[in-house]
Amino acid sequence: MPSTSKTLLSLTKSCLLFGLLAGATITNAKEGMWLPPTLKAHEKDMRAEGLEIPIDKIYNENGTGLNNAVVLFGKGCTGEVISSKGLVLTNHHCGYGSVQGLSSPDKDYFAYGFWAMNMKEELPVKGLTVTFIRRMENVTDKILHDVSPTLPDAQRDSIVNIRIAQVQKEFAAITHLDASIKPYFQGNQYWVAITETYTDIRLVGFPPNGIGAFGGDTENWMWPRHTGDFSIFRIYAGADNKPAEYAASNQPYNPQQFFNINVSGYKEGDFTMVYGFPGTTQEYISSYELKQVYNIIDPVSIEARTRKLDVWTKHMSDSRDIFLKYTSKRAGVANGWKKWQGEVVGLKLNDATGKKVAYETEFQKWADADKTLPFAATILPRIREATQKVDSLLYQDQYNKEAPLAIELIAQGAALEKFVACFRLNLPQLQLNDTLQKLIGSLDGFYKNYHEHTDKDVFVSLMSLYFTKCANSLPDYYKTQYTAHNQDIKAWADDIYKTSMLTAPEKMKFFLSNLTNADSTKVINDPALQLYRTMAAHRAQKITPVLKEYYTQIKMLNRQYMQAQMAWKNDKEFYPDANLTLRLTYGKVKGLDPDGEPKYMWQTKLSEALALDNPAVDEFIVPKKLKDLSKAKNFGRWGVNGDVPLAFVAANHTSGGNSGSPVLNSKGELIGTNFDRAYEGTMSDYYFDPNRCRNISVDIRYTLFIIEKFGDAGWLLNEMKLVSNK
Ligand code: ARG
Ligand code: GLU
Repeated sequence: MPSTSKTLLSLTKSCLLFGLLAGATITNAKEGMWLPPTLKAHEKDMRAEGLEIPIDKIYNENGTGLNNAVVLFGKGCTGEVISSKGLVLTNHHCGYGSVQGLSSPDKDYFAYGFWAMNMKEELPVKGLTVTFIRRMENVTDKILHDVSPTLPDAQRDSIVNIRIAQVQKEFAAITHLDASIKPYFQGNQYWVAITETYTDIRLVGFPPNGIGAFGGDTENWMWPRHTGDFSIFRIYAGADNKPAEYAASNQPYNPQQFFNINVSGYKEGDFTMVYGFPGTTQEYISSYELKQVYNIIDPVSIEARTRKLDVWTKHMSDSRDIFLKYTSKRAGVANGWKKWQGEVVGLKLNDATGKKVAYETEFQKWADADKTLPFAATILPRIREATQKVDSLLYQDQYNKEAPLAIELIAQGAALEKFVACFRLNLPQLQLNDTLQKLIGSLDGFYKNYHEHTDKDVFVSLMSLYFTKCANSLPDYYKTQYTAHNQDIKAWADDIYKTSMLTAPEKMKFFLSNLTNADSTKVINDPALQLYRTMAAHRAQKITPVLKEYYTQIKMLNRQYMQAQMAWKNDKEFYPDANLTLRLTYGKVKGLDPDGEPKYMWQTKLSEALALDNPAVDEFIVPKKLKDLSKAKNFGRWGVNGDVPLAFVAANHTSGGNSGSPVLNSKGELIGTNFDRAYEGTMSDYYFDPNRCRNISVDIRYTLFIIEKFGDAGWLLNEMKLVSNK
């Protein structure tokens, strides 16, 4: 982590460039995640920066655009198609959950990796999908043509939702594909995406964690970085090349487009593009909402997760079995935890709220003087009033979610509700038994990754936090239970984990077998259900209604604020906030600020990863085979000056969801796979500072080196189209 004093030096510089908000031109800042059909407006700038292919090649609606080689991978990542046989490259951490489903202690793919040696060995992943975006179109007129911006939201929503459903249907009927319409610019625009989703996806290659997750949480969200964060899958299709459910007879999908891979590398200053699916950004919110993130949401979440992670880490290091159960869950929890820490640091270093306040002062002057939009002048005062009313509730509820409801046993109380519901049906005994058994079976997924003792320790740690921080707003049941256990949270936990039927599948079976309808109270009295229920009731009575009203109101105010900002800066080109739809961002390969620490660099190499090898620390154990390859300088065609380029940074505006995104050169050829951002730059979800914000990518040459030399899966390279600058 950069030391604060050194980074402060570079801050002065970064303050000069406040990007869009302070009125710096977009051309300088390179801020923005653009909708592909709108790229024509940026053509001049992109050419000046270095783009060498027609915009039409990046996106078109005829099937020949590179948009047909980018996929939404699973529910929240990006992937790129890299062969005519449907090979898809994405991140290691994007394949992690799928691989966990395929792993077990005797098939430990995290420890040893997985490489199919031919198509027959590829492993189907149940439930995994990839989605192509065939075309996007602005349908705002169809949805909003006669809707006034001040129409109350309830009325507006019902009109808009009916029209969305209708227009989607029309598009689906014409295209014979799926159509999905989403709001942009906080509901000031609507765009339809015509999509095609493939459902037979198989695992092809997955490096062990010692490569794919190297550096673990220590290096996560940091630069320099040494992670080979990639994995490979293949899309299968029916005989007609169309989406089909899994069948052994399915064929590798023959895509409309795939990326050529450029193996000549790049240098600092080179033009790059990232094409993918950023999930959520809030670049245009007011200072009031940004302060909520900065003062409440982030700090509370960080505090609670620190405790949870401490407990999980300890148990995971005690047992490989617990490690395997918790590794995927842990990665998810830790990822947000660290990102928010970087975000808080970055927002502070840049005085982002201060700058928003200055911007709002200017906005207010305009709104008071200009009467084009009569509602503009009152927007900010109304936002201030609305946010101030909910600050303390947000604080409480963030603890509710990150403390009691983040304890697995309590969250799982929701499952017991289903049992209770089944008793209400008053089924005959035989049928009841049958239904109960089915419900127990449905919990298999939960138990596969659950460890009672670990969770109990989490309970003790998070409940203590909760009782301290929310002492004045505890649900009654929590207070009485606490008192009943002599204010000893540990004793309370011992009691609950001993009594609850949820802690183990055998216990569930024992409790539930031969229960009659009359025994349903045994389930209702289960402490896990009680803790879950009382929290749900507490939120439903005291919190959710107020917050719901607030969110409805703030949604409308933000829509009006967005409209007014666009009217104010009518010469500006705004880009819509991320919403997990296809975007392109462009920027140059660029190291981090020379005044910062660690030393300025824009690329890492294999030798630097090896220098970090530490057999005593799980996250930094380099696999023996990689060490051997390196010692023998056995780099094949991937060696550059006696080393292998590993990762690089560029100044692209990316976000969560851009994981796995293709990083392209000026010709639209693949040079890397995006997987992260630099620490203080993670604030770019709220505020983009071109001096500080960097996306981090695996060099494609490292990916190919690992596949060919480490995985001995060179057969895959024969499918790819490798090109060079020579
Ligand atoms: N920070 C990256 C992202 O947001 C990578 C996360 C996976 N790595 C990890 N150590 N948890 O997805
Ligand atoms: N690792 C992130 C993801 O899963 C991408 C990094 C980012 O947030 O920029 O999408």
